[in-house]
Amino acid sequence: MARDALILGIESSCDETAAAVVRSGRTILSSVVASQIDLHRKYGGVVPELASREHLRRIVPVVREALSGAGLSLAGVDAVAVTSGPGLIGSLLVGVTFGKALSQAGSKPLIAVNHLEGHVRAVILEALAAGREPALPTLCLIVSGGHTVLYSVRAATEGAVEAVPFRYERLGQTRDDAAGEAYDKVAKMLALGYPGGPVLDQLAVHGDASAIRFGEPKMKGNPYDFSFSGIKTAVLYHLRKHSELEPEIQRRRDAMREQRLRAQELLPLCGRHTLDLVASFQRAVVTGLVARTLSAAEQSAARSVLVSGGVAANRELRETFESESRRRGLEVFFPSRALSTDNAAMIAAAAYPRLLAGEYTGEELNAEAVLPLA
Ligand code: KG4
Ligand code: ZN
Repeated sequence: MARDALILGIESSCDETAAAVVRSGRTILSSVVASQIDLHRKYGGVVPELASREHLRRIVPVVREALSGAGLSLAGVDAVAVTSGPGLIGSLLVGVTFGKALSQAGSKPLIAVNHLEGHVRAVILEALAAGREPALPTLCLIVSGGHTVLYSVRAATEGAVEAVPFRYERLGQTRDDAAGEAYDKVAKMLALGYPGGPVLDQLAVHGDASAIRFGEPKMKGNPYDFSFSGIKTAVLYHLRKHSELEPEIQRRRDAMREQRLRAQELLPLCGRHTLDLVASFQRAVVTGLVARTLSAAEQSAARSVLVSGGVAANRELRETFESESRRRGLEVFFPSRALSTDNAAMIAAAAYPRLLAGEYTGEELNAEAVLPLA
């Protein structure tokens, strides 16, 4: 196999239908993402049945657009890579089935990719494009609406970072909600729309983060595990106790029924107390994420830190990681907004070392809702 390889990646594990062409794990030739956020917004979360139906509708045009954007036909790619898990089973099946069909129709090798490995490779892909290279071993925090997990990542062999297979050791994970899920649920309680993360992030700067104290979750066992349901419940109890906030919440709920409001439009509908609550919630989430990640980095002798997934877009999370990592002499890497959320460029990049190693799959490939990264 020539080292210069074009891989078509396909991703459909949750609520984004995506396809991309990446050259040799380094260069994105095209990346198309069809988001379903508008479809799921009125339910305040992803509805699995609607998601798989929408993937079915979008997958053919999305793949076609990715190929044409790269100036290719199926004949021009060296392999087809597809996310086989973890994720929503009905959603995954659409991508897996379509990937199999393409690989057979075009007589191309089929490569199965773990979605979480995709998030790790997304950060590396962009760092390389910017002329930076994360030092290995690295510690990766994947933090999204579906995952909050810490992996120690090592190179399994010598070679260029985009071409070597990785070995993963899971050091910690959430015991209940994912961080993004907590953002979405708190936004729902406060009638601030869906998804909650971006709005809460923008409103938080207007509040006092030290106004309301949320205790650190007391957890026995693994010190690198996360828990967010305690903070979420604390917000709920706070709202119950402060029923004077209810009319304001109702006003926002009514306004949101008319039309979707952005953070700037929601700001005048939020009193000081609400803004303080939002800022304090965000401070508690960010502090917990950064503290555990950096102590896991120390314990695993990581030489860099990668942060990936939708919540990696969070402004306070980035700033806190930047300053805290600098103090410890660790370099921290984030993907751009486009590559922090689900996309297929990360799947194509993750497939490159497998293509070089001849790790192909075939008709037997199954979608797996639960798929640990090894
Ligand atoms: O990775 P992603 O697009 O989808 C998966 O969950 O796989 O992540 C979406 C999650 C949502 O929960 C959303 O509220 C959260 O990421 N999110 C944020 C921000 N932007 C998106 N959370 C906090 N701050 C943000 N700026
Ligand atoms: Zn994801």
